[in-house]
Amino acid sequence: MTYIGILGAMDEEIKLLLEQMEEKDTQVQAGIRFITGTLLGRNVVVSKSGVGKVNAAATTQLMIDRFQVSSVLFTGVAGAVNPKLQIGDIVISSSCQQHDMDVTALGYERGIIPYQEISDFPADDSLVKLAMEACEKVCKDHQFLVGRVLSGDRFVADRDVVQDLYESMHGACVEMEGAAVAQVCHMNNVPYVVLRSMSDKADGSAHVNFAEFTVEAANRSYAILNEMIGSL
Ligand code: ADE
Repeated sequence: MTYIGILGAMDEEIKLLLEQMEEKDTQVQAGIRFITGTLLGRNVVVSKSGVGKVNAAATTQLMIDRFQVSSVLFTGVAGAVNPKLQIGDIVISSSCQQHDMDVTALGYERGIIPYQEISDFPADDSLVKLAMEACEKVCKDHQFLVGRVLSGDRFVADRDVVQDLYESMHGACVEMEGAAVAQVCHMNNVPYVVLRSMSDKADGSAHVNFAEFTVEAANRSYAILNEMIGSL
């Protein structure tokens, strides 16, 4: 049996998915719950990775090993980095890169993983296209863009940091898992896409906005993903 793998970092990000799933069954490994079932007639496995790159990497690898997923879709919220983005807008990953990979002291550019061919992991073109089509149908009141998702083990809440992430690393948004998922998918030759709805602008108000808008933003990301599943 083939599965579509779906990941979110927090309960809010997978809550609606779990509510819509049928014929559910749960398996646990390394403290991570993998919930299999059907969504719109497709076999899916859904998991909450937990926050941060290590959690995301471990969950993605276990999901690939245990369920041989045909693709991985990540749904959730992020801080806006591109100044055009407003809270509620959507970013579809063109690629994902770690903004906190820093070996500049040895002469590498920021975000570059030494001794590796690739550090900015491209999302799957067909999944990006499907996500764009889904956004066109679902995002009536919000804009979406396809751009680079930056990930790091840090909640960004500083205007200067955001500006730097935009100017130096050309990020569209910042979050804490996407690049880990992307790297593990790349290592296993599994197509992926990350869908993020903006819960905040990663500035001095980010913690307040995050608390206020996370559920709404996570639900928007879910709505797009749900639209995509029907076409997979
Ligand atoms: N996820 C949502 N908002 C974020 C932020 N400002 N920084 C990192 N991850 C986030």
